[in-house]
Amino acid sequence: MFTQINSYIEANKDRFLNELLELLRIPSISADPTYKKDVLRTADAVKEKLISAGADKVQLCPTPGYPIVYGEKIISAKLPTVLVYGHYDVQPADPLNLWTSPPFEPVIKNKKIYARGSCDDKGQVYMHVKAFEAMMKTNSLPCNIKFMIEGEEEVGSANLGNFVKANKEKLKADVVLISDTSILANNIPSITVGLRGLAYMEVEVTGPNRDLHSGVYGGAVANPINVLAEMIASMKDKNGKITIPGFYKDVEIVSKKERAEMAKAPFSKKAYMKDLGVVDLRGEKGYSPTEQTSIRPTLELNGIWGGYMGEGAKTVLPSKAYAKISMRLVPHQNSDKISKLFEKHFKKIAPKSVKVIVTALHGGEGVVTPTDSVAYAAASRAMQDTFGKKPIPVRSGGSIPIVALFEKELSIKSVLMGFGLDSDNIHSPDECYGLFNYFKGIETIPLFFKYYAQNF
Ligand code: BES
Ligand code: MN
Ligand code: MN
Repeated sequence: MFTQINSYIEANKDRFLNELLELLRIPSISADPTYKKDVLRTADAVKEKLISAGADKVQLCPTPGYPIVYGEKIISAKLPTVLVYGHYDVQPADPLNLWTSPPFEPVIKNKKIYARGSCDDKGQVYMHVKAFEAMMKTNSLPCNIKFMIEGEEEVGSANLGNFVKANKEKLKADVVLISDTSILANNIPSITVGLRGLAYMEVEVTGPNRDLHSGVYGGAVANPINVLAEMIASMKDKNGKITIPGFYKDVEIVSKKERAEMAKAPFSKKAYMKDLGVVDLRGEKGYSPTEQTSIRPTLELNGIWGGYMGEGAKTVLPSKAYAKISMRLVPHQNSDKISKLFEKHFKKIAPKSVKVIVTALHGGEGVVTPTDSVAYAAASRAMQDTFGKKPIPVRSGGSIPIVALFEKELSIKSVLMGFGLDSDNIHSPDECYGLFNYFKGIETIPLFFKYYAQNF
């Protein structure tokens, strides 16, 4: 049977690639309302692709935001059901001038597909659609499958929680399978077993009631940009610890044993720094870079602005300053609680000379997924077959808020079998996805289904 699937995939490789390229040409940027039509067009395209791959009940489920594409193939109530989750929306492409080729005109170079969304997540979603097609066309789908592909992941999945709560029966499944993460390297397969949570804040600091001449008033009046900079600087101490009271209270303490296990995953600090063009790293004292980006929470500025930002010099003492600040959280920390602690602290450290407004934009919870389940074993064995090596379980620093939601609302665990590379520039200029990774995914997914159904 598997030689049959593989020959089907082999015979259709060019088409599988061209169809993905077609999808990548639509700029489905969920963050920017200018692209509304394109996001909706992408939802339609995904729907059509699911229909032609052989799914039933394919539909666009409306939400107050972008629709969720749903489809299923139920072969027997006696068989287990795999729910495939992914997202068809992409990050904004800016800064545009840093792209080597236009973000929505995919090109293949060095055996990689260059385009926004190629890895995150259209390329990885499409692997599932094509793997499903291959199973359908060779009569080898071994269990039930449901697809749920959303269009608001990159903006925090605000409407997904309600959709999941309102559609428990429709989404009923035994496991969620997600390809929206990375492997360590093409010759070091890995399965993601942890994701961080997120609390995303925006702050506004107001000084005087209008922009002032910085010579006439500067020196006596609080400059909100200076104040904001001081406030932000005080939020981490010299050891890289976050100073918000109570911030670490619920942080999961990872055992020495697990830390030792994690340290076995290959990591070269030198190669890491070289790739990023930095000569030193900076993070929380007492933890390795791998730990700092997975089992430890952090606080990062995503953007900071205010005052004069045009050409040349303008002397001004601005009225307002702003920043977007995100905190990556680890299991047991709660994003609402952390947002509140942040707000309270931020207001407390603000000097009387300014007013502050703190807004929580969105949040999500971290997760650790099991490694002792039938589904994990199936993913591990599938990857072992196609990569020739047993995948290593690793915790990732990124966030996919839906994973914790699926656990909480539907009591379904997820398997994070992604095929990207950390060097694929997701969210950055020149995002890419290896042809090796795309086709490896299409080959591996049917094996997951086979082993999962066999051992359920
Ligand atoms: N696919 C990523 C998450 C990811 C990337 C996990 C790499 C592990 C490795 C996802 O699309 C994403 O970007 N998530 C956002 C969170 C969201 C709430 C905006 C993130 O992690 O910043
Ligand atoms: Mn993603
Ligand atoms: Mn993303």
